[in-house]
Amino acid sequence: MKFKNSVIDIIKTRISTRTYNGRALENEDFEKLNAYINEVNKEIKIKARFKIISNLGTSKEESKKLGTYGFIQGANSYIIGIMDKDFNDALKFGYVFENIILYATDQGIQTCWLGGTFSKSDFEKISVLNENEFIPIITPVGYKSEKKRVFETTMRKTIGADKRKPWNELFFNKDIDPLDENDVPKFRLALEMVRLGPSASNKQPWRIIRDENTFHFYISRTKGYGIAGYDLQKNDLGIAMCHFDLTLNELGGKGSWNKLKVAGVKTDWEYVRSWVED
Ligand SMILES: Cc1cc2nc3c(=O)[nH]c(=O)nc-3n(C[C@H](O)[C@H](O)[C@H](O)COP(=O)(O)O)c2cc1C
Repeated sequence: MKFKNSVIDIIKTRISTRTYNGRALENEDFEKLNAYINEVNKEIKIKARFKIISNLGTSKEESKKLGTYGFIQGANSYIIGIMDKDFNDALKFGYVFENIILYATDQGIQTCWLGGTFSKSDFEKISVLNENEFIPIITPVGYKSEKKRVFETTMRKTIGADKRKPWNELFFNKDIDPLDENDVPKFRLALEMVRLGPSASNKQPWRIIRDENTFHFYISRTKGYGIAGYDLQKNDLGIAMCHFDLTLNELGGKGSWNKLKVAGVKTDWEYVRSWVED
């Protein structure tokens, strides 16, 4: 088991941290995180890789130079997500990167998914990329400052970061009537962990339709949002699939992901994948 704690607790604990205390990662934390990332790099099935860049300096001026437009302060290290331009698979990338985020959370390290508010050219300069690679996502890794900045608190309020949509807006039965938690005791926690997941600008685009013990995953897209160069909302679905899988694994559920020919739903949701119980 790669996690020390229950993945359900880890998912509940994770929160985006934008104000860090400036301390570098403790040696032991760095070693563990680095070893985990190396393992992911070895096993990954898509053309993507991850690396930690450390000792970047943490003063206000230095944070500004590194280009997170003031969104992140006091972070000394980042995990850089790198992908091949001809293999731009946001679904699988999101799935794998969330595993790394949860691993860091389990070690007591704070993170913040960044897909928009960072300067790609600044991070490309320090990341040493091959010719055909780009950086879709990064995260700071470090320890939170005891005091949050007013900026951070205001930002969380503006995008409603502490809130999630209720079950009846996210999960449905095959006739598109809302799914009741009591109808799916075996899957209730896995669905709840999808609901608690992070998403770009907290748009929560995941929609799931249940047909017996099969769960069809869809994207409800925010028009004009987050596709240029990298599909952030597909990435969000990768996170949802990761939470669903890890939770069911922990609870002993077994199934696999398939691309099925599902009957069209009466909405403009975009079909992604189905989880089918073994
Ligand atoms: C794919 C993705 C991209 C994100 N990009 C940014 C970003 O560019 N800047 C930022 O401050 N937060 C970013 N976030 C963090 C979200 O705003 C955050 O997850 C959401 O508001 C929920 O808050 P929480 O993570 O604290 O639960 C991103 C999250 C995801 C999943």
